[in-house]
Amino acid sequence: MSSTTDHTAEDPALGEGAGSPGDGGAPEPAAIRVGEGAGTGGQELGYDVVIGNGLLSRLPDMIGPGPERVLVIHPRALRATGDVVREDLEKAGYTALVAEIPDAEEGKHIQVAAFCWQVLGQNDFTRSDAVVSVGGGAVSDTAGFVAATWLRGVKVIHMPTTLLGMVDAAIGGKTGINTAEGKNLVGSFHQPAGVLADLDTLITLPRNELVAGLAEVVKCGFIADERILEIIEASPEAAQNPHSPQLRELITRAIQVKVDVVSVDAHEAGVRERVNYGHTLGHAIELAERYQWRHGAAISVGMVFAAEVARSLGRLTDEEVDRHRSVLSSLGLPITYRDDRWNQLLEGIRRDKKNRGDTLRFVLLNGVGSAATVEIPDASLLFAAYQEIGEEPTQTVSL
Ligand code: GLY
Repeated sequence: MSSTTDHTAEDPALGEGAGSPGDGGAPEPAAIRVGEGAGTGGQELGYDVVIGNGLLSRLPDMIGPGPERVLVIHPRALRATGDVVREDLEKAGYTALVAEIPDAEEGKHIQVAAFCWQVLGQNDFTRSDAVVSVGGGAVSDTAGFVAATWLRGVKVIHMPTTLLGMVDAAIGGKTGINTAEGKNLVGSFHQPAGVLADLDTLITLPRNELVAGLAEVVKCGFIADERILEIIEASPEAAQNPHSPQLRELITRAIQVKVDVVSVDAHEAGVRERVNYGHTLGHAIELAERYQWRHGAAISVGMVFAAEVARSLGRLTDEEVDRHRSVLSSLGLPITYRDDRWNQLLEGIRRDKKNRGDTLRFVLLNGVGSAATVEIPDASLLFAAYQEIGEEPTQTVSL
């Protein structure tokens, strides 16, 4: 870990046109407001998710005039982006520092948070100063946690550089770190002051990362916005092209689905559970695979599984279940899982946070676009659904 400002590493996050709004005739950025007409969540809601190209230079406007010091937290792989952001902030008159943290889940460790707290303390950060995250979901989770806990809460702005970060992790204020006992067991809700989803960062994102992020987009299609499914069905290739208007529309629509949910249920007391569609088995697969599967791959299988459970309860037709398989596989996402792991998976399913006592609860569809959390009357239904997605262990492939 480092809080220095070296200018050495190659930086894959900066695509063409980064830092220069409007380059190449890209459409004007769109802003989606979180908390518009919110029923719960109180004053912490009320911020913009801005989607567009070349947004890095908009950060000072989003931070606003209150803070004097800004800590930019980024992973090692985004050192050059972190430096560009720091330089922009310095030019705008802030005292800017960077904290470089380990990549991906390695960054979600208490020692990483302690390192960031140390940087904040040594630089006299006050309650009116701000933290900025630049990176994927693991970075926004850790940076959000650092911001939530420093002086009991300072402003945080997220600049997601992965598709998963843009459509899910950076929106809605979930923060957290991992412990030896499991992922995200320590954390809090701490809404950002704003989110800048710069589509240029997707240009150099590895294809498998992009496809894994699309699983969350497909999820939004099934739970709330069928147009998402239609766009992918019309051209799965365009859906995976970071330059295409189709991907831009998919991202905007998925963000709108997440914003709509978070705006009425910031603290996951009810409808927010819907964004966990496919996640109950998905998390169990991630655990069984010791986190070597990408999250998006695991929830892809999880959605097919949930669809099979819904079919057995008469909530989905055969065609609707087939649609899960065809949309997900058209993007190269997995739709099966090895057939010799049921006991291990059931153990993971039983640990899901949606369960109440011994009652297992799943997010299921009642037709496309209508999701709800449902009590599972009999665990044998789950085993039957597992039979439908199972295959020989030697055939199982992730992304
Ligand atoms: N990633 C799930 C949520 O934000 O609720």
